[in-house]
Amino acid sequence: MKTAIYPGSFDPVHNGHIDVIERASKLCDRIIVAVAVNSAKSGLFSMEERVELIRLAVPDVKGLEVTSFDGLLVDFARRENADAVIRGLRAVSDFEYEFQMALMNRSLDENLETIFLVPSQESIYLSSRIVKEVANLGGNIDRFVPAVVREALIKKMG
Ligand code: PNS
Repeated sequence: MKTAIYPGSFDPVHNGHIDVIERASKLCDRIIVAVAVNSAKSGLFSMEERVELIRLAVPDVKGLEVTSFDGLLVDFARRENADAVIRGLRAVSDFEYEFQMALMNRSLDENLETIFLVPSQESIYLSSRIVKEVANLGGNIDRFVPAVVREALIKKMG
């Protein structure tokens, strides 16, 4: 495989995302981690902050690029000459939404494959939403996010 896109909200990036990036990097020559701009969904971190946190948090991975995109994923994928989209599949609860997205993306561009990767067992229950909730309530998030993300969360939440 040549180029794969790993799209998401990444608000913020957590260890589960990083695990997927590392797994994907073993399969692809070039992996583009792409923060989706969603004007309807205001997150905790700005798009620029999310991109910056991914750049700071993800260890040196061969062929890695970090960026953001606006509009349809399939259009971004075409512009980047991507062969596939990578998504992490954590639990049965993810399946319906992921399956729907994969089939919609295929109906928009039949040449774009979706590849699901299974994250490590330690990150199977992680989500940005839950990490934010735990951080907001003063819980320890050391095991769930890199230090730079933990610091950014603490700062953001005051
Ligand atoms: O981390 P998330 O929020 O589960 O990621 C969802 C994301 C960003 C991958 C998805 O919403 C997406 O691809 N958005 C871009 C707009 C688009 O192409 N929508 C149609 C996808 S079926």
